[in-house]
Amino acid sequence: MTLSDGELIPQLGFGVFQVPPKDTTEAVTRALAAGYRHIDTAAAYRNEAGVGQAIHASGLDRDEVFVTTKCFNDNHGHAEAKRALKASLHQLEMEHVDLYLIHWPVPSQDKYVETWQGFIELQQEGLVRSIGVSNFQPAHLERIISETGVKPTVNQVELHPRFQQIGLRREHQELGIVTEAWSPLAQGRVLDDPTITTIAQAHGKTPGQVVIRWHLQLGNVVIPKSVTPERIIENFDVIDFTLSAKEMTAIDELDAGERTGPDPDTFIRP
Ligand SMILES: NC(=O)c1ccc[n+]([C@@H]2O[C@H](COP(=O)([O-])OP(=O)(O)OC[C@H]3O[C@@H](n4cnc5c(N)ncnc54)[C@H](OP(=O)(O)O)[C@@H]3O)[C@@H](O)[C@H]2O)c1
Repeated sequence: MTLSDGELIPQLGFGVFQVPPKDTTEAVTRALAAGYRHIDTAAAYRNEAGVGQAIHASGLDRDEVFVTTKCFNDNHGHAEAKRALKASLHQLEMEHVDLYLIHWPVPSQDKYVETWQGFIELQQEGLVRSIGVSNFQPAHLERIISETGVKPTVNQVELHPRFQQIGLRREHQELGIVTEAWSPLAQGRVLDDPTITTIAQAHGKTPGQVVIRWHLQLGNVVIPKSVTPERIIENFDVIDFTLSAKEMTAIDELDAGERTGPDPDTFIRP
C-alpha cells in the first residue's frame, strides 16, 4: 500500500509482541523465509535486537524489509523521543527504520504533541522513512494535525472481527491515514466462531487465513503474530482465495465492540 508520504508499506506483516527476546531471531528468520517483508516490533517488546539480527543474517538487503518500531510511554517529549529512536536503532543495528510510531497517546501525560514534533524532525533527519501513531483516538489525531500541520501516515489500532473500529476507520479514510490492525486475530479468540469456521471450510482454508484475508480485503495493514512454524507459513498463505461480498458482510456482522486490550484514553503504563 502507498502511504500519504509516498512510501510503500507491505500490507501483510509479522508482529513480535510477546515473542520472548531469546526466541525472536528464530521466529523472524522463519517469517522472512516464509516471505514476510514487514516486521512490527517496539522498544517495549524488548526484542528489537533479535529482529535486527534475523534481518541482518537473512542475506536480504535492508531495503527489502520494512521495519516498524515504536516509542513507548516513558519516552514522550521532544528530546526523549529522539533519544528513544536512537536507542532503538542501536538495538536493531540499523541506520533507519521504515516506520516509527508513538505507541500510545497517554493523554493524561499530555506530551504526545511534543513527541510528534520530535518525530517530524527525525523524519527530516532521515532516521525514519515514515512517521505514524498507534492507539490514537480521533481527538488525538485531530490535535497533532492541527498543532503541527503534519498528518500521521498510519494509525495502528486494535482491530479484529469482534472490534471493528468502523468510526475510526472512516475517520482514517477521510484523513488519508492507513489503518493498521493489531491483535488482528483477537489473539486467537475469534478463530472458533462458527461464521468464520464455516467460511474457512468452504474455501479449504483455516480460520486464521480467513480473518487475515478479511483484513486485507478491508484495506487494513495487518500484522499477525505467531511463534508456531506452521502458523507463520499459514498466515502468509492468503493470496490464492477471495472472500465474496456475502462472506465479508457475514464477518462484518460479528462486530461486538469488544476490546481485548487496554483503552487508549486511559492506558498509562509507564
Ligand atoms: N500497537 C500496539 O499497542 C499493539 C498491541 C498489541 C499488538 N501489537 C502488534 O500486533 C501484533 C499482532 O497482535 P497480537 O500478537 O496481540 O495478536 P494476534 O496476532 O491477533 O494473535 C496472536 C495469537 O494467535 C495465535 N495464532 C497466530 N496465528 C494463528 C493461526 N493461524 N491459528 C491459530 N492461532 C494463531 C498465536 O499463537 P502462537 O504464537 O502460539 O502460534 C498467538 O497466541 C503484535 O505482535 C504486535 O506487533 C501492537
